[in-house]
Amino acid sequence: MKRRTLLAAVAAAVAAAALPAAAQSQKLKVGFMLPYSGTYAALGDAIEKGFRLYVAEQGGKLGGRELEYVKVDDESDPAKATDNVNKLIKRDNVDVLVGTVHSGVAMAMAKVAKDNGTLLIIPNAGAVAVTGPMCAQNIFRSSFSNWQPGYAMGEVAAKRGAKKVVTITWKYAAGDESVGGFKEAFEKAGGQVVKELSLPFPNVEFQPLLTEIAAAKPDAVYTFFAGGGAVKFVKDYAAAGLKKTIPLYGAGFLTDGTLEAQGADADGLLTTLHYGDGLDNPKDRAFRAGYHKAYNAVPDVYAVQGYDAAQMLAIGLNAAKGDVTRMADIARAIEAAKIDSPRGAFTIGASHNPVQDMYLRQVVGKDNKVIGVATKALADPGRGCKM
Ligand code: BEZ
Repeated sequence: MKRRTLLAAVAAAVAAAALPAAAQSQKLKVGFMLPYSGTYAALGDAIEKGFRLYVAEQGGKLGGRELEYVKVDDESDPAKATDNVNKLIKRDNVDVLVGTVHSGVAMAMAKVAKDNGTLLIIPNAGAVAVTGPMCAQNIFRSSFSNWQPGYAMGEVAAKRGAKKVVTITWKYAAGDESVGGFKEAFEKAGGQVVKELSLPFPNVEFQPLLTEIAAAKPDAVYTFFAGGGAVKFVKDYAAAGLKKTIPLYGAGFLTDGTLEAQGADADGLLTTLHYGDGLDNPKDRAFRAGYHKAYNAVPDVYAVQGYDAAQMLAIGLNAAKGDVTRMADIARAIEAAKIDSPRGAFTIGASHNPVQDMYLRQVVGKDNKVIGVATKALADPGRGCKM
């Protein structure tokens, strides 16, 4: 057994031994609140698969306790979010909430989790507010803030000589904040965002906006789209003839988990993200092999974030001897941890968001090939967070 694996096994055994007998026999109830339908359905599925893979690698137990799952399809619908999360907490009595993908839904989850003191681990949604003004001891993110990949791409676009950029995205927190991060870095470096285009989530009627881009003739376009919408945007951008004339830069969600469907229309695109293909570290190699064996599929960033959400839960539960009510111990342990992620090791900042490298990736065939580090150890500013 490798030293790290041995240490993890010892920590889990110690946690199990120290648990009160009654708690040991009780399963830990995990509530997955994720999109299982709609444009983000594939993202929710990958998160759950990644989470379950880590738990399976630990023999089905975290912090000495077996896990059971309750699932809710949140449909990426903020209007249903408060009811859905209240059901998980009050009707299903979950011990831990894991969710979600959509920033608007995550903000509703965070509010309820904060009010109830339930441990919440967010395995995707990058809403800046969650690790900003809404930050709390019991709320963690295993993914990114929307600001992070945008900021990294703002620096890249400026370095590559773009002066005038048009942005295009869905009009909700994720799109606004991704563009905000891009604009902050790009304009700091002397560039100018000349037009900010948007359409409501999850609309995919891109044509009128593509016509506006063609007329504006910017040096480049920056975009945030993900899931099914990203597939259509990349195909429409190429079909409009823009790919040949105006470089398209994106937050990496544009091409993650989507390349099979985008085909040659995605070839060569540059994006920034905290994961990519060809990282070639031992953890990533093992993770990819395990994921392939379990699901006969290649993992994407969402699977990594699900896997790391389970790792963070394990770190907290081991420190709290399986007792999910010992929130101060859980928080202290996660805050002090170096998380051995397939993306490369990362830490959790003061506002409970990952501090991590942002990679520059280029689409080559079916890969988001990592071609460099765009911004090293990038921390979200966590503006407005007071723990
Ligand atoms: C978000 O809503 O925060 C989000 C959704 C999909 C990919 C990335 C971010």
